[in-house]
Amino acid sequence: MATVLAIETSCDETAAAIVKNREALSSVIASQIATHRQYGGVVPEVASRQHVETVNDAIARALQDSHLSWADIDGVAATCAPGLVGALLVGLTAAKTLATVRNKPFLGVHHLEGHIYATYLSEPSLQPPFLCLLVSGGHTSLIHVKDCGIYETLGQTRDDAAGEAFDKVARLLQLGYPGGPAIDRLAKSGNPQAFPLPEGNISLPARGGYHPYDSSFSGLKTAVLRLVQKLQQERENLPVSDIAASFQETVARSLTRRAIACALDLGLDTIAVGGGVAANSGLRKHLQAAAADHNLRVLFPPLKFCTDNAAMIACAAADHLNRGHISPLTLGGQSRLAITGVMQLYR
Ligand code: KG4
Ligand code: ZN
Repeated sequence: MATVLAIETSCDETAAAIVKNREALSSVIASQIATHRQYGGVVPEVASRQHVETVNDAIARALQDSHLSWADIDGVAATCAPGLVGALLVGLTAAKTLATVRNKPFLGVHHLEGHIYATYLSEPSLQPPFLCLLVSGGHTSLIHVKDCGIYETLGQTRDDAAGEAFDKVARLLQLGYPGGPAIDRLAKSGNPQAFPLPEGNISLPARGGYHPYDSSFSGLKTAVLRLVQKLQQERENLPVSDIAASFQETVARSLTRRAIACALDLGLDTIAVGGGVAANSGLRKHLQAAAADHNLRVLFPPLKFCTDNAAMIACAAADHLNRGHISPLTLGGQSRLAITGVMQLYR
């Protein structure tokens, strides 16, 4: 029954949270979106500096909101990979320092494992095995969750991640950063059938081996670019809502098709969705309907646990700590680390 304080600084949110097993007692998120918006995307050095300025306050607030004291905390964790190394180092250094000063075990957590654990926060009785559809700004993966720390990646994107595609198309439509929420909002007033777009043709054997659960979004992105160029020549006003709705519909259909096929092929009856794109209303609608047709259970974390937060990191760390997994204080930040490598973070 571990209670863990965790820090998440892998990208553009400075977050701290306290989780007791699978219950979030507090979750503080200081978003840097307003800072990075002026640059049209995350500037790594700016992110690191802002994490330094904000992290102590986030930790203090997380403790205060939980109504716990340091005596109640069993371990201190931080995201250690994958992410922006300079940004990861801020959270890691804070967590290691607190662990040392307070004499608690330290745990590094894989960011994607955190996104998987977000589902447990709202569904504490969930047990592996299940399928996780992980759709974030950097990843589009279908992961077979076998146990704590034991994962198999069944499908990935061959090019852009789903969230990256949302962000790039939003930039094309001049909707600002981050693109996903802006497209989601606009799509509500658009016609999703207005413009037929390609789903990403990976039904053909691709170089390096054909994989039916892999996705591809760069072709779709280019198709939207061509559509915008064509419409700009033909019309005075771009039908932005219809383009957003058609794009979102295509991404939702493509992700749904692969997730359902993968769950059915593996005989898994539950699909847990994680990552920022799990907040997308089009994906939620499509996947829920398709899952119901196939008698599958689909679980979406509440919106506050879909995008980056520290509660999901604390939840993963609590499960590892319950099993006696502890990281060495020499653990560094890594920009890339496959989720299959999670157990190398613990001794
Ligand atoms: O998981 P996340 O917060 O950070 C990463 O680990 O990448 O995901 C951020 C991504 C961004 O690309 C953002 O545009 C996308 O999630 N996103 C959405 C929505 N909310 C956030 N995409 C589609 N619809 C949304 N409602
Ligand atoms: Zn994330």
